[in-house]
Amino acid sequence: GITRHYNFDIKLQNVTRLCTTKSIVSVNGKFPGPRIVAREGDRLLIRVTNHVQNNISLHWHGIRQLRSGWADGPAYISQCPIQTGQSYVYNFTIVGQRGTLWWHAHLTWLRSTVYGPIIILPNQGTPYPFTKPYKEVPIIFGEWFNADPEAIIQQALQTGGGPNVSDAYTINGLPGPLYNCSAKDTFKLKVTPGKTYLLRLINAALNDELFFSIANHTLTIVDVDAVYVKPFETETLLITPGQTSNVLLKTKSHYPNANFFMTARPYATGQGTFDNSTVAGILEYEKPSHSSVSTGKLLLFKPILPALNDTSFAANFTNKLRSLASAQFPANVPQKIDKQFFFTVGLGTIPCQSNQTCQGPTNTTKFQASINNVSFVMPTTALLQTHYSGQSNGVYTTDFPISPKNPFNYTGTPPNNTNVSNGTKVVVLPFNASVELIMQDTSILGAESHPLHLHGFNFYVVGQGFGNYDKNKDPAKFNLIDPVERNTVGVPSGGWVAIRFLADNPGVWFMHCHLEVHTSWGLKMAWIVLDGNLPNQKLQPPPSDLPKC
Ligand code: C2O
Repeated sequence: GITRHYNFDIKLQNVTRLCTTKSIVSVNGKFPGPRIVAREGDRLLIRVTNHVQNNISLHWHGIRQLRSGWADGPAYISQCPIQTGQSYVYNFTIVGQRGTLWWHAHLTWLRSTVYGPIIILPNQGTPYPFTKPYKEVPIIFGEWFNADPEAIIQQALQTGGGPNVSDAYTINGLPGPLYNCSAKDTFKLKVTPGKTYLLRLINAALNDELFFSIANHTLTIVDVDAVYVKPFETETLLITPGQTSNVLLKTKSHYPNANFFMTARPYATGQGTFDNSTVAGILEYEKPSHSSVSTGKLLLFKPILPALNDTSFAANFTNKLRSLASAQFPANVPQKIDKQFFFTVGLGTIPCQSNQTCQGPTNTTKFQASINNVSFVMPTTALLQTHYSGQSNGVYTTDFPISPKNPFNYTGTPPNNTNVSNGTKVVVLPFNASVELIMQDTSILGAESHPLHLHGFNFYVVGQGFGNYDKNKDPAKFNLIDPVERNTVGVPSGGWVAIRFLADNPGVWFMHCHLEVHTSWGLKMAWIVLDGNLPNQKLQPPPSDLPKC
């Protein structure tokens, strides 16, 4: 591989959407941010300089960061934030990954405007294991807020209530014609008949899983989270925040005399408020120059998306995702397990202070989210530095529960669960441990799908189901042959998911719900993976420009 240099200047930029102009935090004044294009095996040196008043850090979502955890980016986990006027060079090598990933800010809600694609091409001379596309097009879904998202989440945390929802979904930063005052801000994909396009889909929305479809066209999924899958055709995709997917779009063989909407809107099973509006972009066929096609008004076709809470669509769709599991791209699923964990994930409430009025589900409660009843508290210094220097005292404890202390019927009538406590607790894993983790949704405030993202690893999704996980019956149904490999998985609404991974990457690795509001409420934790004995099994020493808190 080669070394590629990027300069990312964090600065303010005026952007107008929905007839509202506001100053947003951006990279290089771009919204969405600049693309990173690299090949498998390349080294990236990305110099990030902070010219705004906010602290910031950037995360390279899905990049494995083998032994380079200092470049991972989550603030207060792998690094202290980059302060105003300071720079930090993210230095990492892309090992064994090709496909689409993305980068985003990883502190408070700054990622609402600070995000962009990472395109990883295969090694020079290595073809895709599918039809060579005529063109490749990144398509990033996001959310636009007329107000300042930083103020929205601060307010929500103070009052204990739910935050205001976004004003629009976007495709490549554009809300499209179904919103007021937005027709001119529409993403258009111009295509030629009879070609194959590779769409690189990224869900960068803050708080919503999305369905996506293009009217009258079938999509072939060839990759998720920068890992090839067995190709399959679908009219509609489900993509959660944090997930990426490459899909092939074959255009019609003849000029169709029509345009086609591509639309996205939420898959939402929780009880909270959310924006159920629709973003639309347009697939526009180039008219052949010497054609007899009529010049009259073009037809416009619109896709039909599944119902907002269509959990069976979600389960069927995710069940179809399978690793290639070929000689060239094997599925190295851990077969023997060293460490087993059972995590409950879900929302709950805590009592409001007696002299306060709160805006949680009632005016005496605040929203809270937790894993195994631990609502994670961010430290004020970076866990990775603390771990590396051996000074964990007073910063974190290593007693994160491996299973819930008081098991209950997780998916029955909402159980009264009042055992949540705050803490900065981690799990410590020996180097190369093979890990199985069951994540169980709890329905304390209603069943809800939670896209859980693990930093530093890909994992295999070996099983999923509805109801309570049954440790006596469900493991027999696990797929240990060709399960999909990814970095973000939806814990099914009212159900569970089982993942396996090999802890071959020493460092401190964040795991959290990629619905930003749930992360803010505490649905997050961290794993520490210890060094191995060999020199190439150890975390590299910290770079000299690592920010200080
Ligand atoms: Cu895409 Cu911890 O995040």
